[in-house]
Amino acid sequence: MCGIFAYLNYHVPRTRREILEILLKGLQRLEYRGYDSAGVGIDGGNGKDWESNAKSITLIKQRGKVKVLDEEIHKQQDIDLDVEFDVHVGIAHTRWATHGVPSPVNSHPHRSDKTNEFIVIHNGIITNYKDLRKFLESKGYEFESETDTESIAKLVKYMYDNRESDDISFATLVERVTQQLEGAFALVFKSVHYPGQAVGTRRGSPLLMGVRSDHQLSSDHIPVLYRSSAKDKKSCTALPRTDQDTCLFPVDEKVIEHTNRVIFLEDDDVAAVMDGRLSIHRIKRTAGDYPARAIQTLQMELQQIMKGNYSSFMQKEIFEQPESVVNTMRGRINFDNNTVILGGLKDHIKEIQRCRRLILIACGTSYHAGVATRQVLEELTELPVMVELASDFLDRNTPVFRDDVCFFISQSGETADSLMALRYCKERGALTVGITNTVGSSISRETDCGVHINAGPEIGVASTKAYTSQFVALIMFALLMCDDRISMQPRRREIIQGLRILPDLIKEVLSLDDEIQKLATELYQQKSVLIMGRGYHYATCLEGALKIKEITYMHSEGILAGELKHGPLALVDKLMPVIMIIMRDHTYVKCQNALQQVVARQGRPIVICDKDDYETVKNSSRTIKVPHCVDCLQGVLSVIPLQLLSFHLAVLRGYDVDCPRNLAKSVTVE
Ligand code: F6R
Repeated sequence: MCGIFAYLNYHVPRTRREILEILLKGLQRLEYRGYDSAGVGIDGGNGKDWESNAKSITLIKQRGKVKVLDEEIHKQQDIDLDVEFDVHVGIAHTRWATHGVPSPVNSHPHRSDKTNEFIVIHNGIITNYKDLRKFLESKGYEFESETDTESIAKLVKYMYDNRESDDISFATLVERVTQQLEGAFALVFKSVHYPGQAVGTRRGSPLLMGVRSDHQLSSDHIPVLYRSSAKDKKSCTALPRTDQDTCLFPVDEKVIEHTNRVIFLEDDDVAAVMDGRLSIHRIKRTAGDYPARAIQTLQMELQQIMKGNYSSFMQKEIFEQPESVVNTMRGRINFDNNTVILGGLKDHIKEIQRCRRLILIACGTSYHAGVATRQVLEELTELPVMVELASDFLDRNTPVFRDDVCFFISQSGETADSLMALRYCKERGALTVGITNTVGSSISRETDCGVHINAGPEIGVASTKAYTSQFVALIMFALLMCDDRISMQPRRREIIQGLRILPDLIKEVLSLDDEIQKLATELYQQKSVLIMGRGYHYATCLEGALKIKEITYMHSEGILAGELKHGPLALVDKLMPVIMIIMRDHTYVKCQNALQQVVARQGRPIVICDKDDYETVKNSSRTIKVPHCVDCLQGVLSVIPLQLLSFHLAVLRGYDVDCPRNLAKSVTVE
């Protein structure tokens, strides 16, 4: 979705050049949330006194990525980059269009009027914007964009113009605006009437505050965490941008004073910065509901979010998997005595063991992690396990009971559909468990308990290492659920010892990269790829097909091999690229049958198989041989060749691997 970033300096002098540099850097780090347009709003005056400079606001907005905005800023004749501001508020936004095509006028910040009295940036969707627009138009406001956000900018001016007293605070004004809004939002406002002040608020979309002498408001922690390194001093091309990007702003280390101390705002918090001080109050305050928001210290290093020697974040994240799965297991599994400890679940495990059923709810890749582990969860917990797409789960008004346990699997922890499903389940009294990768995210905060997968920041829009870590986290949960069951001990030991060697086996699969790149050169001009498998590997088929379609724009379908003769077999001929997954598990014989059926229709499948499966090698024209692991973990290994294949196909087809068209990393609207 969209990314919000605001930077406020208070009696910390900054030139306009420095302020813009900080805003653009922040936006670059949020670009993965949306990247079809970007904009900034800064003080407009060029005089010596910051307060008079704040009497006007300059907006610069462009269609395209942040680097286009960077270039546009340098074309501006009427802004003096060397003017120094003792106090300043700059707000910036990177957009992923929901209402209105990507264009400068539809980009944020949106403004109240042609003189930019109030400006606002927004992430989310305002569902009653048409009514608001109609009302404001009837009051004479002229709209310039097709967006829902513009109504907010006009509404704040309407509230200001109709205020009952002159000393109304900016926070009160914003509070009144939000009371008229329906939908989901994180908002940051700036105004010529409140120089040096900014107000941020949220309902349903994430917003946090970086706390230091210079404050920041941001959609997530990544821009806030940034601290320049010696390497960044000369040129910001060292920062995680696409290779062809150049930065027009020189980087000066002293300028970047960002922080790892953050406050996560809650729904209905209004955070105001005035005279350099932060205050937070609640819109709907109930007795005892005081907005004491703790400052949290994020333990994350810049290197964790840098691309390093890789050409894209996705490639880096694929190759990080030997370490990311170790991080998921670290401190949680004792391989010597085969025990599993999940601190986030320890107070609830007895209740979970007594539940009626487990419901795994997620979207996209995270949903596939649920599909991938369903069988082993059923086996080890001996409970019914449902796996649900969050949107469909809500559409169906699915019955949920107090004795259900509902899992919410989400890399970002902010996916709107999953979050709504979480609230739906909570209302019905179910115990809720989060499986997330983002500390402090809405899902991790709103669930009763959970497991943090510790995969490290995932920046590439296409999820890779989060999938394998979610997979491992769910398996650890299944192991924990049966740790006192004597009959399960041999199976538990087998799986735990499989987890012990998993990182080395992942490394072995990654060493197939050259072979897979070669395969990609043979496939990249095709229109379509079918991926077939069954049992533990059906999820791999779905996930491999999703990876291919989202970053290569080729058609790809994951097909349950058991369904072949019920329709999909009609697609097979000698021209159709087919990938099959055949592993030595309980479905092996059935998979061999499927292979025969495909070959009989002149298909020439590429088969991902066990490296010592000579029979499959003999029956197939081409194989990708992966090491053998315990059956329920084999899916971690079978998916990696498909992650690599999708990556190479996208590169060969000339696409931006990290920023696929029409997609965003964090989908915070329904
Ligand atoms: C695909 C992908 C998406 C996400 C989905 C859910 O590569 O990344 O399908 O998995 O949007 O996102 P999270 O896991 O953040 O809830």
